[in-house]
Amino acid sequence: MEKREIFGSRLTVIFAMAGSAIGLGNIWRFPFIVGEHGGAAFVLIYILATLLISLPVFIAEVTVGRRSRTSSYGAMSSLAPGKGLWKFAGVLSIAIPLIIDSYYSVIGGWSLDFLLKSCAMEFVKTDPGNVTSIFGSFITSTWSPIIMHLVFLAACAFIVANGVKAGIEKFSKFTIPVLFVLIVLMIVYSVSLPGATEGVRYLLKPDFSEINARSFAYAVGQSFYSLSLGMGAIITYGSYVKKEENIVATSAGTAVSDLMFAILAGLAIMPAVFAAGIEPGAGPGLIFQSVPFVFSSMSASHPAIGAAVSIIFFLTIVVAAMTSCISLLEVGVSFLKDRYGVNRKKGCIMLFLLCGAAGVLCSLSFGPLKDITLWGMNIFDIFDWLSSNILLLVMAFLTVVFVGFVLKKEDVWDEITNSGTKKVNARMFDVIYFLIKWVAPVAIVIIFITNFIF
Ligand code: PHE
Repeated sequence: MEKREIFGSRLTVIFAMAGSAIGLGNIWRFPFIVGEHGGAAFVLIYILATLLISLPVFIAEVTVGRRSRTSSYGAMSSLAPGKGLWKFAGVLSIAIPLIIDSYYSVIGGWSLDFLLKSCAMEFVKTDPGNVTSIFGSFITSTWSPIIMHLVFLAACAFIVANGVKAGIEKFSKFTIPVLFVLIVLMIVYSVSLPGATEGVRYLLKPDFSEINARSFAYAVGQSFYSLSLGMGAIITYGSYVKKEENIVATSAGTAVSDLMFAILAGLAIMPAVFAAGIEPGAGPGLIFQSVPFVFSSMSASHPAIGAAVSIIFFLTIVVAAMTSCISLLEVGVSFLKDRYGVNRKKGCIMLFLLCGAAGVLCSLSFGPLKDITLWGMNIFDIFDWLSSNILLLVMAFLTVVFVGFVLKKEDVWDEITNSGTKKVNARMFDVIYFLIKWVAPVAIVIIFITNFIF
């Protein structure tokens, strides 16, 4: 059998994992959730949730991946053979990324289209009053969003087809540092606008009166999504981590990069939105309507700067979404390869066809298929809700229960500390193990219930 590919160094593991983590979740979801839930007070809760719950779950996923050295489908069942539940977890870990990829690449396609529009200086040339309608008419049309979705997905599949090292690792090694530079440039522009301080205050002023049980659930749910947990992606990437690598250090490095990027994205977007005097709306409207409005209204005197910043902004989104989409495709490719011996290139073509077709339905659900709904949600919303609010939590729950109760504690110790050779001392290991075994499962059950009851 072909030897399993592995990532080159600690830094490249972190870049690849951060590539998966940093995405649309950081750029549009994080800023407005923070605003709606008490600004800096929520950021504090989010940091705590990331360190106490998501980071242990992340470590658990990397542990399962590296110990099994197989795709997320077979990871748990190979470590605990004969148990149906872990086979089910394997199936979930393949189904979730396929569902997410289908709608995620549609948003990727929108971003790509807006990047092209930025290059054509469309937002700068359009009257601010009309710029917000560009998004609505684009997504409700039939062909353009479908074509963009397929182009975006094909580009991601092409990178995955080149392999773990020559494709994923090489791409993220180059793009992750670039993303940080781009977002900082955007912040410089954003905070220099007149009236921007209001936006900074919106993000950084703690308002504890807005904090309630739901805020905690939101914080944990958002940080799971943002760190790509509960979807097989980190288990799969974990299976490519070298035996000598320190799991705790790579996981913590990824979590910190993701956290930093989310905060930077908030600082890039909110001041600009406030400077333009518009309400920070939730959902995709924030980046596809409010931000173009900013470019249009702020750049009357300097159209070239406005155009350049809008290119920077949408390029950031396209690249961030690509590295996430790549990790979702890799889950499927690694499954097809390990389970059925399908080679990487064929696997990429199969996944492109599958997610491409499902994505077409998601894309059409804003236009010709908008009347197909369930509980008021269109196909796109159903894909998002089912995967991000339900299945992801089930999968994350199964993973921590698996590491806490099925794997032997000595084996978890052996994997996390590399048989005691890494700088993870016994006390630190005990804390991590306790968080995985007790805190994370209880927290996940509570969020699940909160999502339904409140
Ligand atoms: N973590 C990504 C984001 O923040 C989303 C994602 C989910 C990526 C699942 C990979 C797997 O946008």
